Amino acid sequence: MKKIIAILLLFSHNALSLPGDGKLVATPYIKGTIYNQMGAYQEAVSVFKEVLNAEPNNDKAYYQMGVSYLALRQQDKSINAFEKSIEINPKNPNPYLYISVIYLEKKQYKKTLKLYQRANKIIPNNRDFYYNTGVIQEILGKNTKAVEAYKKSIEIKPKFDSYYRIGIVYSKLKQYKKSLDAYQKATSINNLIAEVYFGIGRTYEIMAQYQKAIDSYQIAVSLDQKNPITYEALGFSYYDLKQYKKALSAFQTQEKGLTELWDDYAIEPQGVLDFAKIFGNTHDVVLEIGFGNGDTLVEMAQANPALNYVGIEVYEAGIGRLINSAHIKQLNNLKVMRGDAVEFLSANIADNSLARFQLFFPDPWHKKKHHKRRIVQQDFLNLLAKKLKIGSVCHMATDWQDYAQQMMEMLETNKNFKNTQSAHTYTPRPEFRPLSKFEKRGNRLGHGIWDLIFTHR
Ligand SMILES: C[S@@+](CC[C@H](N)C(=O)[O-])C[C@H]1O[C@@H](n2cnc3c(N)ncnc32)[C@H](O)[C@@H]1O
Repeated sequence: MKKIIAILLLFSHNALSLPGDGKLVATPYIKGTIYNQMGAYQEAVSVFKEVLNAEPNNDKAYYQMGVSYLALRQQDKSINAFEKSIEINPKNPNPYLYISVIYLEKKQYKKTLKLYQRANKIIPNNRDFYYNTGVIQEILGKNTKAVEAYKKSIEIKPKFDSYYRIGIVYSKLKQYKKSLDAYQKATSINNLIAEVYFGIGRTYEIMAQYQKAIDSYQIAVSLDQKNPITYEALGFSYYDLKQYKKALSAFQTQEKGLTELWDDYAIEPQGVLDFAKIFGNTHDVVLEIGFGNGDTLVEMAQANPALNYVGIEVYEAGIGRLINSAHIKQLNNLKVMRGDAVEFLSANIADNSLARFQLFFPDPWHKKKHHKRRIVQQDFLNLLAKKLKIGSVCHMATDWQDYAQQMMEMLETNKNFKNTQSAHTYTPRPEFRPLSKFEKRGNRLGHGIWDLIFTHR
């Protein structure tokens, strides 16, 4: 997924080059592309509509409008615009790639594969279609098909990421020699990516060739000094070679790495926080309480680089996991606070400083006598309201019906909040909210899912 998005970003940059025709509409078109680059997507849509009024067959304007709608998370409109662009100019690969990202977000993998089959017929020999097909086959657990697709992408154009993925897949298939071979080819194209050397190390470790594993982990460490997982792997390989002092030193460095990452990502507040100073920009701040293992928060921060995210959690393993993946993804718009959210909210978060609040699957305290322990109470909402800006969004979700009812009742009776739906109505599950561990658990137990999206007035 990460790789697909990387490709798309590349394309979106290319797509912002000037249109070769339609002089009359060139100026508004450029204006629209600039709006897209600046993140002013609503304005971009208006401009592209203007362009299309003047020139209804401008495929590039439809394409750019698709990009704007995608950024505005209006997925159906985005697909329509990209499809229009394809209808007019079926030879442009970019709209297919964008549509596939939307299908992937919706986890519609079969549809994505069909889209690529359709695209392959019209634009043969596009390496990205094959590469992305490989990624989807991997997600579907079809590793052999994934290798086939990656190989096809290499036949068209040998690139680092295809070799890297083949290395990973062969390792999963327990074909270690082939895995090493693919990784080596990846490093011959780009020898600066720590993850590949980590992969090589892992494969050698599985093959019980510990010294070779160590050599490779050492290169990974030299390329990314802060990744504690590599130090841990290094420690275990030394341990397997009975080189205990070195193992100990690697484990100690792992701890040091964790401390350094902690300094990069954790906020340890003294007094009221200045988010502009903490993030080095004045982007809107989203606060999430109780992010659990952090996977959904990381996904949202990655998907929305123009927003700053702050997560508060007490669960240490979850905080560690979040920090690690934020580091691997090199996120600079995500910070974490360890401790009780209500205390932080009252003591350290400035009034009128939050643009969005999210609380996903809070502890349900499902026994009636424990309901008073639930975080959503009027006192909490009044405190939260002080911290939210006027017009900001408060988003909650739960898989416990009676907690959903409690949230609805409390939010609707609190004068600071207004339902974005009509009275007593839950919001349909928004696609921008990634599926979380506790939501999956709720689904497994056959629970319903209730989303509530209110604005602060
Ligand atoms: C049921 S889990 C849900 C986790 C995650 N949002 C998800 O959907 O997978 C609730 C989380 O809220 C955290 N939590 C509960 N009360 C908290 C508080 N007062 N401050 C910070 N975190 C809290 C818990 O540690 C737990 O990880």
